[in-house]
Parts: sequence; C-alpha cells; structure tokens
Amino acid sequence: MAIPSEAEVEADTRDYYRARAPEFEQWILREGRYAHGPEADASWHREMAKLQQFVGSLTDASVFEVASGTGWWTRLLAVRNRVIASDYAPEMLDEARQRDEDHLPLGRCRADAYRLPAGDDSVDACMFGFWLSHVPIARSAEFIREAARIVRPGGQIVLVDSKQAEHSGASDQFVKGDRVQRQHRRLNDGREFTIWKIYWSSDELHSLLGLVCTEVEVIQTDHFFIGARGRVKAPASED
Ligand SMILES: C[S@@+](CC[C@H](N)C(=O)[O-])C[C@H]1O[C@@H](n2cnc3c(N)ncnc32)[C@H](O)[C@@H]1O
Repeated sequence: MAIPSEAEVEADTRDYYRARAPEFEQWILREGRYAHGPEADASWHREMAKLQQFVGSLTDASVFEVASGTGWWTRLLAVRNRVIASDYAPEMLDEARQRDEDHLPLGRCRADAYRLPAGDDSVDACMFGFWLSHVPIARSAEFIREAARIVRPGGQIVLVDSKQAEHSGASDQFVKGDRVQRQHRRLNDGREFTIWKIYWSSDELHSLLGLVCTEVEVIQTDHFFIGARGRVKAPASED
C-alpha cells in the first residue's frame, strides 16, 4: 500500500475531526472506548483540572481560539474573557453551538489555522488546545508565526496538548512510538483515518514558542498533558 503524502495525512486529519465531531467529547469525558478504569480515569480528570486552571488564568482579555472543536476550552475562557472561537470543521462548530450558553461573550467562525481571519496585533491572546500536536512539523513555525501575527506585542499565546501516554486515547488504539506519528484512528462506527500526531517535549515547546515569544513557560502534568504560554514579542525583535 502506498504511504500517503504529508498533505494527504493533513487532509485526512481534517476529515477525521469532521466525522468525529459528535463523539469527540467522549475522549475528554472518558466515556465509551475512552474509559480506562477508575484509577486511570481519576488521574485523567485530576490532570485535566490542572490544565483548566492553567488556561483559566487568562482573564479580561480578547482571545482568538484556534481549532476550538466542540468548545471545551471556549466555555472556560468565555467566563472571564471575550472570545472568538474558530475551527476548520463546520461539524465541530455545530456541536459547539449546541453547548454554548447564551450569556457568555463569544463568537464562532470557520477558519483554517494557517490563515486566521483576524488583523495583525488585533487580540490580547491566542489559545489552542490539542491542536499543535496535529500540525505537521514542517508547518509548525508557519503556524506559530500566524498565531503570533494576530496577538498584540506583550499579549499571550497559550496552548495545551497531549503527552504520549498509554491511557490517553481509545483503549483499542494505543501505539507507543516516535514523537512524530502518522496515527491510525478509528471512529465508533469503524471508519478509519490516518492523522498527524506529534508529541512535543518541554524543550521543543520552548524553542517553538521562543521564535515569537518571550517569557516562555511550560508545564506538565504527571501522565497526560503539557501546556505552554509566552508573551508575544514586537515584530522587530523577532529572532
Ligand atoms: C483534537 S481536536 C481539539 C479540539 C479542542 N481544541 C479541544 O481541545 O477540545 C483538533 C481540532 O482541530 C481542528 N482542525 C483540524 N484541521 C484544522 C485546520 N487546518 N484549521 C483549523 N482547525 C483544524 C479539528 O476540526 C478539531 O476540532
């Protein structure tokens, strides 16, 4: 069988999330194929609470969220910020709208992460959860520069993502391997896709964010998650 090209894997990644939208939050909530037993699931929820604290420290800001999915992070951010949440998949945006609470100050739009529909320096912060791990390495600098473009100097980039961990994905799908993976993923109905999944280390996140930010900080939870934030440099001082 021919190995799919990098662009084909990117396209499959987009198609996978469009098809997965209705069952996506089973992963976050540890339901169905994503349940791993009381101990691992309790750990997951504890670590997720730490991640929510990390993201929740963003306050009183205008935030552009990239690849917002079903709105798990949007709903948290919108309690204390003004949020525009974007995603490539209309199906994800539909799922998110069904979960939105009317009183929260947020808007939603369809957008490709590499061409954000926001002006230069137009927001206080750009946030993305579990998105960077789907950006092919060859496009990671392009993406981080696009995120930085829309944030005012001194504003923040905030991200959270996955560590490689046995009980993170579906119970029938864990593959231990390289930090850069073309992962085969299956939906509940058996449809299969090949997607990009990249596990960023703390040092690598420092380097990537360091292209566009100062004051880079990386946090990790015990098993499942990594997070990072930094303050966007003025363009003239970019390395
Ligand atoms: C793992 S999900 C994360 C969703 C959400 N941020 C969360 O943490 O719950 C990855 C998201 O990336 C979106 N996505 C895939 N390709 C994209 C692209 N080129 N531009 C913007 N979003 C994209 C998918 O539709 C999906 O919602």
